[in-house]
Amino acid sequence: MSSLIQRDTLHEIQLVLNGRARRGRAEPRLLLSDFLRDELGATGTHVGCEHGVCGACTVRIDGVAQRACLTFAVQVDGRTVETVEGLASDGLLGDLQAAFKRHHALQCGFCTAGILMSCVDWLGRLPLGSVPDERAVREMLSGHLCRCTGYTPLVAAILDVARNRAVAFHAAAASVSTEVSRA
Ligand code: FES
Ligand code: FES
Repeated sequence: MSSLIQRDTLHEIQLVLNGRARRGRAEPRLLLSDFLRDELGATGTHVGCEHGVCGACTVRIDGVAQRACLTFAVQVDGRTVETVEGLASDGLLGDLQAAFKRHHALQCGFCTAGILMSCVDWLGRLPLGSVPDERAVREMLSGHLCRCTGYTPLVAAILDVARNRAVAFHAAAASVSTEVSRA
């Protein structure tokens, strides 16, 4: 894309979306949320308030959670975008998705995609092997306004994933330590 952004002009945008090179065209005023849904067909990203409040449109851009409704499509040219569609692989749900299902945390589902992407981002920033407390989880979720309420299953699912990841991390660390001591 040219570095010169011109109004009322379609600009070519190339990005990596969920690990795949994609391209599309957008006017400078087009929001990333609309670009993902209408130009690239990635309708997993939902749109609620369209002004950065509800969190339904949350995606990750270059590994950082962001509101797609506060980002112009032209801003992701040459960048990496992750959406809820990228969480499952080979038809299998990711661990967060599976925990949401297990704990009935989906509610009506409208906000779920954005919440999942915030969780991916937040859990990925925790110190390895650590487990957050409920207060920290609720603080993270405060970035999402959900009319279904009932945040309790969400908290349970997120804590479940954090615990499982911590157990896996410590088991792997113990295994490496055993191998080293045998060598
Ligand atoms: Fe983007 Fe509500 S639709 S924050
Ligand atoms: Fe139903 Fe949020 S999941 S409104």
